[in-house]
Amino acid sequence: MEVGIIGSGIIGLLSALTLTDVGYKVTIVARDLPGDDSQDWASPWAGAAIYPHPDSGGNSLQRENFRYYWDLAHRDPTSCGVQAIKATEYYDDRDNDSSIWYKTVVPNYRLIHREDLPKGSKLGFTYTSMTLNPEILLPWIQKQLQARGVKFIRRALRSIEEARNITGARVIVHASGLGAHTLADDKNVEAIRGQTMFVKTDFAETKIHQGSHYTYVIPRPQTDGAIMGGVSQPGNVDRNVDKDLRVDILQRVITLVGGELDSVRLKDVKKDIVAYRPGRKGGFRLEAEGNTVHAYGFSGLGYVYSYGAALRVRELVDSLCSREKDRGSRL
Ligand SMILES: Cc1cc2nc3c(=O)[nH]c(=O)nc-3n(C[C@H](O)[C@H](O)[C@H](O)COP(=O)(O)OP(=O)(O)OC[C@H]3O[C@@H](n4cnc5c(N)ncnc54)[C@H](O)[C@@H]3O)c2cc1C
Ligand SMILES: *[C@@H]1O[C@H](CO)[C@@H](O)[C@H](O)[C@H]1NC(C)=O
Ligand SMILES: *[C@@H]1O[C@H](CO)[C@@H](O)[C@H](O)[C@H]1NC(C)=O
Repeated sequence: MEVGIIGSGIIGLLSALTLTDVGYKVTIVARDLPGDDSQDWASPWAGAAIYPHPDSGGNSLQRENFRYYWDLAHRDPTSCGVQAIKATEYYDDRDNDSSIWYKTVVPNYRLIHREDLPKGSKLGFTYTSMTLNPEILLPWIQKQLQARGVKFIRRALRSIEEARNITGARVIVHASGLGAHTLADDKNVEAIRGQTMFVKTDFAETKIHQGSHYTYVIPRPQTDGAIMGGVSQPGNVDRNVDKDLRVDILQRVITLVGGELDSVRLKDVKKDIVAYRPGRKGGFRLEAEGNTVHAYGFSGLGYVYSYGAALRVRELVDSLCSREKDRGSRL
């Protein structure tokens, strides 16, 4: 069966991978493709770290996803740009780990004693996770897909029907991120502004603070630096770098890491990044509607859900296609 996919971000690409794994013939239509560095899509700009999230739901998707990236990091880290790394999470909005459902999923989970927590944190723990470089991972997936015969068509679409016309496929996977605001006429879709910096450093762990502020350092595999952030600004569409925010972020990261990054200065910033998370009020959408499978709205956790979401996309496509086949055999 033929399937068309709208979008070649991490969600569209991994959906193409799970579908071609079982023999579907896939065509991808997208405005932005791997290698493009426009601010119009999210995937190239993620840190990116695989931090499962305690409160955002879809835990089974996150669990399957963690296993997938763990496997990539241990199979061929150099080619795919995914690397295992020591992760530390701090929170100031909870004081015990009863909400940390993934403590039994991630390797080497360890609670940090209260007296060892940095000032301002009420909960902290470490485990082994993954960091990835989207500039390596996205083209790596694209190359595998092309080897399997997947066609990529660059086109800005005005409707999902247009994608059906272009690909000739009856079933469409709709993974357009923020594009869903118009393509699915979904007014719950909203851009959430992020600002980060790529900074020269040999710091080799990933750390995050969540709660009253959102601060992180994420080493980028196969570079000489790390992504430092961040901020979460729903509704802010300013595409320019906020200068005050750079100073604030660096200060927060230095406080978060405590000591090891004290010597980092703004002059070590090699690149400023302003990008938009494809948010959705009420959470991500992963369901079939007619002959369309929607997969969007993953906000700041697209990589955390991606492979789990792609497996679910395949289940939904399977059931649409068996319905189509039944209909065909009755004719
Ligand atoms: C600063 C920042 C840091 C982040 N850090 C992390 C992190 O550490 N971990 C994590 O898991 N996530 C992180 N994220 C979130 C992550 O980047 C996104 O959730 C993820 O990339 C979303 O992928 P997607 O495929 O849904 O959308 P996108 O990557 O936005 O892709 C959308 C695709 O649809 C196409 N498209 C859209 N509209 C149309 C149209 N009309 N016609 C044709 N094509 C169209 C686009 O061209 C593109 O190909 C971060 C995001 C930001 C901004
Ligand atoms: C853990 O914290 C939650 C609130 O975040 C609270 O409801 C619960 O009682 C706490 N559990 C323990 C064992 O302290
Ligand atoms: C799809 O193709 C048909 C036939 O060529 C055309 O009439 C229709 O306008 C197209 N629809 C869209 C949305 O592009």
